[in-house]
Amino acid sequence: MGYFNAIFLIIAFLALVLRCTETLSEDVPLVFDYYKETCPLAENIVRRHVAIALVRDPRMAASLLRLHFHDCFVMGCDASVLLDSSEGIVSEKQAGPNLNSLRGYEVIDEIKYYLEESCPYKVSCADILAIAARDAVELRGGPRWEVLLGRRDSLEASLSGANQLIPAPNSSLETLIANFEQHGLDVGDLVALSGSHTMGKARCLSFRQRIYDDFKYSREHNDKYKRYTTFRRMLRSMCPESGKDHKLAPLDHLTPAKFDNHYFLNILEGKGLLGSDTVLVTQDHEGEILKQVWAYASDEELFFASFAKSMVKMGNINVLTGDQGQIRRNCRFVST
Ligand code: HEM
Ligand SMILES: *[C@@H]1O[C@H](CO)[C@@H](O)[C@H](O)[C@H]1NC(C)=O
Repeated sequence: MGYFNAIFLIIAFLALVLRCTETLSEDVPLVFDYYKETCPLAENIVRRHVAIALVRDPRMAASLLRLHFHDCFVMGCDASVLLDSSEGIVSEKQAGPNLNSLRGYEVIDEIKYYLEESCPYKVSCADILAIAARDAVELRGGPRWEVLLGRRDSLEASLSGANQLIPAPNSSLETLIANFEQHGLDVGDLVALSGSHTMGKARCLSFRQRIYDDFKYSREHNDKYKRYTTFRRMLRSMCPESGKDHKLAPLDHLTPAKFDNHYFLNILEGKGLLGSDTVLVTQDHEGEILKQVWAYASDEELFFASFAKSMVKMGNINVLTGDQGQIRRNCRFVST
């Protein structure tokens, strides 16, 4: 055996060993009863404090749901979104999609505080986000699902990831589909999860382009144009072409505080608030999405079942498990 062959074999062997250890630590799956021994009351504690937060501020349900989404779409569901800027960390909170928009950080702090009192150093911030999102949906009348647990918290944040990986409200359908695909989610997940916009609010900044860009809309959606005109006039009167960037409009004008299937009725009527809501019904070439939208609009149970399934899928994106990452003591800082 030649010298180079030997070197090659050693390198191949090392690569194999590395691969094995990598897969070993990646392969620990999330489970339903992860805290059974270490913090049996974890889910009750989260739920109680989510409920209290919703009494103080009804919109918080929407905000907590969105927090989990923005966490999962940047480096996976690892609570990277909760890190404040500090030595070596540039916070994702400053990213375009999050700044002056993402909310609920204090509620997570509060939940973490009570969890640390009951079972110090056991429950990850990433799991808190997943449980809080589920409870927020359920407490607003939406479905309940079992949350898979055992996520660990990241040691870093990614500002550039937050700027690039969270979909923009003026994206084309094609861009939205590609974005979700990048995270392992398919078109069905995109439609079901977009149903989240059945609660909460958006700023004029997020939908101004859509309400002042009516030529494109009227051409693509002629039949619904009349009804859309009244809706658009109302939105234009609250959001002028410039200024009032941070004024808020409900994402679901019918029942803004409830988790129901009205989102799908809205977009069928041309009354989706965001451009990304509208394109689901205006740019669907194969008719596949429209069929799903109709099904959800006419069958809330079906929407709830799909939504729950897609949330579990989203909650699995690139999770850290086993001995990866850490359990943070304070969700805003990496523990040392
Ligand atoms: C399909 C791509 C998506 C786009 C382009 C998008 C974009 C947006 C935008 C621009 C806002 C308003 C932000 C503001 O003006 O401050 C918003 C709000 C919201 N989004 Fe999405 N979103 C998408 C998908 C999702 C998903 C998958 C979820 C949850 C699983 C979600 C949950 C929410 C909620 C609940 C709100 C209201 C938050 C509040 O009131 O605090 N969105 N979204
Ligand atoms: C979407 O909005 C952003 C920020 O306002 C803008 O820079 C971008 O050009 C817009 N993209 C499209 C496709 O209109």
